[in-house]
Amino acid sequence: MRTRVAIIGAGPAGLLLSQLLHDRGIDAVLLEARDRAYCEGRQRAGMLEQATVDVLREAGAANRLDREGLVHHGIHLRFAGRDRHIDFPSRTGGRSVTVYGQTEIVKDLIAKRVAEGARMYFDAPVTAIEGIDGDAPRVRFLRDGVEEVLECDLVAGCDGFHGVSRGAIPADVLKIHERVHPFAWLGILADVAPSTDDLIYAYNERGFALHSMRSRAVSRLYLQVDPDADLADWPDERIWAELRERLALPGWTLDEGPIRERSITPMRSFVAEPMSFGRLFLAGDAAHIVPPTGAKGLNLAMADVRVLARACEEFFLAGSRAGLDGYSDACLRRVWRAEQFSYWMTTLLHARGDADAFERRCQEAQLAYLADSDAAMATLAENYVGYTWAD
Ligand code: FAD
Ligand code: DHB
Repeated sequence: MRTRVAIIGAGPAGLLLSQLLHDRGIDAVLLEARDRAYCEGRQRAGMLEQATVDVLREAGAANRLDREGLVHHGIHLRFAGRDRHIDFPSRTGGRSVTVYGQTEIVKDLIAKRVAEGARMYFDAPVTAIEGIDGDAPRVRFLRDGVEEVLECDLVAGCDGFHGVSRGAIPADVLKIHERVHPFAWLGILADVAPSTDDLIYAYNERGFALHSMRSRAVSRLYLQVDPDADLADWPDERIWAELRERLALPGWTLDEGPIRERSITPMRSFVAEPMSFGRLFLAGDAAHIVPPTGAKGLNLAMADVRVLARACEEFFLAGSRAGLDGYSDACLRRVWRAEQFSYWMTTLLHARGDADAFERRCQEAQLAYLADSDAAMATLAENYVGYTWAD
């Protein structure tokens, strides 16, 4: 089999790239290790920056997003019995964010790609990537247990943190930056109307809590838990009791409902540099991970792909490698901004069992400053909606 771009992974990054290349008339084949239902069922992120909404519109994959997405103009910061609403449009030149589940984006993109007859193979795990330092890379994968080879001009490694692409870059070229955080998030999806208009980020001595949503009838909530926490120790009543305590505010009540899904996610900050080598280009979680507190993981993946699609267009349609050569640096500037913001939000809002009284008092002082200072709120707002550079 032969194509121009071999895309590995049918997460949001690989699917969007497949769509953007198709729209530019560039042939691509997408290989995904898991089956379609698995890809469409994974509960993950839900907060979209304006730029993510825009690129999905550009890709013609935003019809349902435009109908069902919930536009949010700010967040609530809740701590020490206070609730501070931080408005975004007034601090960011009118920008907002949109809540729409990653699973829905994946379903919309897969449906569109299938309808357009894309060459997209599920249950097709990639086992090896060869020849990326030459001009004829080859991707080996399995179909029905039999090895096949995909010949291509470029490889897009969109295979997430546990994929094979990153490992194809020689170890002496790749620099890894990593922090494993001493907590995890227990996330639930519950059939109950959200008890809030905008998202609530809550700091509590018992730990962080986040109240998000998926629709007017479905709530998404998260709790900070120990990294080795076991779902078996978290029956429904314990989850709701903990959420009630951590989100508590006088005069406010948390409505409860049946829990439909639950999972525990470890928290990590991770960047692999450079994001490309020869003819291999990493995008999304394959290259970088942020702790979810800043809601950046999905948005970074989409931003990488926007840059990569444009670079492919320059390469195949205008014969210039400039965009591909600049790909890693262009992405890493945004990645490191988001890494720092996510790290800052994470340390600000989580309770650390190992923190001493001095560190805890500094954390409380920082929270109080954020709730009082317009400058501090503007910093949070412009990063949360997606920082953009003046140039
Ligand atoms: P992925 O979505 O991971 O997609 C990669 C795809 O590649 C997968 O379908 C995988 O099966 C496939 N693949 C892997 N190896 C191979 C192979 N060898 N061959 C072929 N295919 C392969 N972000 C937030 O902002 N907020 C959140 O609340 C949040 N929650 C998360 C919860 C979990 C459990 C996880 C794992 C991530 C979460 N994230 C969250 C992060 C966000 O979901 C990711 O940043 C986003 O999924 C990145 O998209 P991606 O396309 O780069 O990678
Ligand atoms: C969601 C997840 C996040 O990590 C976040 O910061 C905000 C919202 C969500 O899943 O809705």
